[in-house]
Amino acid sequence: MIDKKLTIWCILVLMFVSSRVTGQNSPFNYDESRVPSYSLPELLITNDGTTVANRREWERKRRPEVLDLFTTHMFGRVPNHVDNELRFEVVEHGLVLQDSARRLQVRLFFNAIKDTPAVDLLIYLPVAANSRDACPMFLGLNFMGNHTITNDPQVPVTKSWVRNRAEIGYENNQASAAARGTSAHRWPIRLLIDSGFGVATAYYGDIDPDFDDGFKNGVHSIYPKVADPTGQQWGSIATWSWGLSRILDYLQTLKSVNPKQIGVIGHSRLGKTSLWAGATDPRFALVISNESGCGGAALSRRQFGETVQRINTSFPHWFCDKFQDYNANENALPIDQHMLIALIAPRPVYIASASEDLWADPVGEFLSGRMAQPVYDLYGLAGLGVKMKPEPNQPVGNHVAYHLREGKHNLLEYDWRQYIEFAIRHYARNK
Ligand code: GCU
Repeated sequence: MIDKKLTIWCILVLMFVSSRVTGQNSPFNYDESRVPSYSLPELLITNDGTTVANRREWERKRRPEVLDLFTTHMFGRVPNHVDNELRFEVVEHGLVLQDSARRLQVRLFFNAIKDTPAVDLLIYLPVAANSRDACPMFLGLNFMGNHTITNDPQVPVTKSWVRNRAEIGYENNQASAAARGTSAHRWPIRLLIDSGFGVATAYYGDIDPDFDDGFKNGVHSIYPKVADPTGQQWGSIATWSWGLSRILDYLQTLKSVNPKQIGVIGHSRLGKTSLWAGATDPRFALVISNESGCGGAALSRRQFGETVQRINTSFPHWFCDKFQDYNANENALPIDQHMLIALIAPRPVYIASASEDLWADPVGEFLSGRMAQPVYDLYGLAGLGVKMKPEPNQPVGNHVAYHLREGKHNLLEYDWRQYIEFAIRHYARNK
């Protein structure tokens, strides 16, 4: 019986992996010639049909409308009574990387009651040896616990719920020390510190464990689901984004950090999250979407690789219930993902894809950056500067930037090097 189950499970995994990589034998479309014809919702025409002619009209009228459309139809609404005032406790600090960086571990409590779920924040800051300037930072959530992003033994193994993964010793939904450093390749701390950047991360499951439990755990346990016939309860992506904003509250209080130079970054589902965090919280100085795909940077109407129906079926808890109305019905959406990119304007946004990551639709990710340009134009800001997706490893763009990294779905040092350069360029301009 167990063998049979295991075999079926292995077949499903193999089917998924092969469809992700090659698209063969897959119900999903990986053929550009089979992308349906579609027309995108108008970015600069308001709900009452008037055309937006300048920034003021965008900021006063259309931007709030677009933000509300994403809230209502896709990500869900943060309840009005949520307490945004978190409590912070510094748990530990020390010097690392031959004293070139300071490590800070901080615990965030969701409200005044001590026993409520908490988020453990891990921060590395450059020790400003020859500079009096406060540092710029990147903030991003991680997938497997803070101890997986570094070999630093001072970072404790997460006690939060984790998805089982035998290869790193995660069993019974408990993390293990065997996983220490297994995601370090995604977090090049040395490179960031040497480039003058601080970096902060937290395990996304601290904010909301990533499984469909009917809105009972994580932040949802403090603000339980209330009946909402309009289907606008905040999904997990909205809770993770909200958590990023609360972490930002804290980072902005640090004296050695420049509060106007904190960028938000995320990979894959956490790239969807960083885009929504950037859209909802203008304090994020720049936004990075690493292979965010469907529900992130990729245009839904293209139905290339992962579709709305597929994402809502595999991960029903990521979005609000209302988003289910658009399963196999993308053209009925009053929004598409270029409008999510436009919500970030005039701040810089970087969209990255990988050449073998067809599941995330690199063309669709590129196009959403291109189709957001009319809003950047209102600010006189240059965007991608090219009409076609560039060849691998040839970054393009200005305020909207893009690259297609050679290789698989991942967040690698190549990607980080582009993000660091991008941030240096923009922060130098806005000094
Ligand atoms: C799945 C999912 C994607 C998501 C990815 C990830 O592949 O279909 O939408 O981006 O997981 O987060 O790793």
